[in-house]
Amino acid sequence: MFKNLRDFLSYLENAGDLQKIEEELSPRHEIQAVMKYMDKGDGPAVLFPNVKGYQIPVVGNLLGRRRRLAMAFGVEEDQIVDEYYRRRQQVYQPKLVADGPVKEVIIKSDIDITKVIPALTHHAKDIGPYFSTAVTIAKDPETGVRGMGLHRVQIKDRNTLGLFLATPPLSVFLKKAEELNRPLDIAMVIGMDPLTFFSSVIWAPPGLDKFDIAGALAQKPIELVKCSTVDIEVPAQAEFVLEGRVLPNVRDTEGPFGESSGYYFTYQNPVVKIQAMMHRKDPIYHALCLFSQEDSILMDVGWAVDNLRPLREKFPNIKRIEFKEMGQLGVVQIDKKAESEPKEIIEHLLSSIFIKQVMVVDCDVNIDDQNELNWALISRLRSPQNLIIKPDMMGSAIDPSAVMEESTAKGKLSDINSHIAKVTKIGIDVTKPLNELEKYEKVDISAEVKANIAPIINKYCPNVKIF
Ligand SMILES: Cc1cc2nc3c(=O)[nH]c(=O)nc-3n(C[C@H](O)[C@H](O)[C@H](O)COP(=O)(O)O)c2cc1C
Repeated sequence: MFKNLRDFLSYLENAGDLQKIEEELSPRHEIQAVMKYMDKGDGPAVLFPNVKGYQIPVVGNLLGRRRRLAMAFGVEEDQIVDEYYRRRQQVYQPKLVADGPVKEVIIKSDIDITKVIPALTHHAKDIGPYFSTAVTIAKDPETGVRGMGLHRVQIKDRNTLGLFLATPPLSVFLKKAEELNRPLDIAMVIGMDPLTFFSSVIWAPPGLDKFDIAGALAQKPIELVKCSTVDIEVPAQAEFVLEGRVLPNVRDTEGPFGESSGYYFTYQNPVVKIQAMMHRKDPIYHALCLFSQEDSILMDVGWAVDNLRPLREKFPNIKRIEFKEMGQLGVVQIDKKAESEPKEIIEHLLSSIFIKQVMVVDCDVNIDDQNELNWALISRLRSPQNLIIKPDMMGSAIDPSAVMEESTAKGKLSDINSHIAKVTKIGIDVTKPLNELEKYEKVDISAEVKANIAPIINKYCPNVKIF
């Protein structure tokens, strides 16, 4: 298991999966642009040692391929979810230690984030630099229970940030603090070992400490240190920690920012004042390319790890599920035994906020091959009953087609949390009718011939899987 970000980078370098870009590049647009196009090819992680105007290197596309998430787990790609369940059986609560490398430099006065951290300005119309991997940690003002999440963070000036808190638990913590008219103390962590970073985006049940999950995945307790000005614990091995408070009942324009969904969004969002910063002597800044494979992988696998097993228990005929497009598009492969099954699965999955489209296919459709999915859609969609359209469903706030409706919950009109995103969802059942299986028999090559030619295909087309 990797203790920190830099150990993982060394491993990737040895594995030939880290590309160094020696040219000097600006954190304003240029680095993100290179990350984006590097993501289109074989997609290695990318390290930029020479960042214009800064001493600190930038690393990006860290988990931009499932193979690197698998490396972080130390397993094969198709074992990630099962390995996740296996490790979660054992609990390793985090351990508080007195000191750690993140405390090598502590700044408590004259903070100027803009001068120290090479935060990227990502897309053409973004308002300015954003932290895209900052994990914000806070405690429930009522219970003291710790919570965390990955949230976009706009850098407004030397010590002022805009924070997009659309999801619990942090959105709930802020609501509680605001009802008491108190600021919410926070710590933002940038640059962690890959599994702790991954744990921060897992769709965990409320109240579960994500450092417990990270410990389980690492198979040992995560070492935490106390912050220097707030009562919050952070990973001792982190690269940067910012300490501050969310101002109660203050909202300000945050954005435009090009989101994971591929569109720009501007909100009236909470404002953070930073009062202290801790970092390593030689920190590395970790950036994430939005609207890329990486944020899709984090969303897709982050959802799958805790939801797949209960789903399979409820629907045992499910063989595989793949999520695409930031977890919004689910493709389910089933060994259908009753005509009602696809519809039940579709209804179940569409009730999850972020899933917008579900397609159910049979086992003879290779769900890794988009051409086969298109073929199944074209040839097996039969009647209007196989198409389920569900308007006015709770959806994602970063979906441009969402209609923002004011919620009945208390809150300011300008507050994203007082609105609900309503979207139209779609379910498509393209499984074969059970009473007409012969008519829908797919042309195929016999199992015997497949076995005979397998060595030849492996030799000449090693990337092709025989399906
Ligand atoms: C790349 C990425 C960016 C995210 N950005 C935000 C954000 O800006 N605001 C937000 O409220 N949630 C954001 N999220 C979702 C939260 O991190 C989400 O709460 C978490 O993935 C699920 O954890 P939870 O079950 O504790 O809410 C983002 C998730 C990912 C993977």
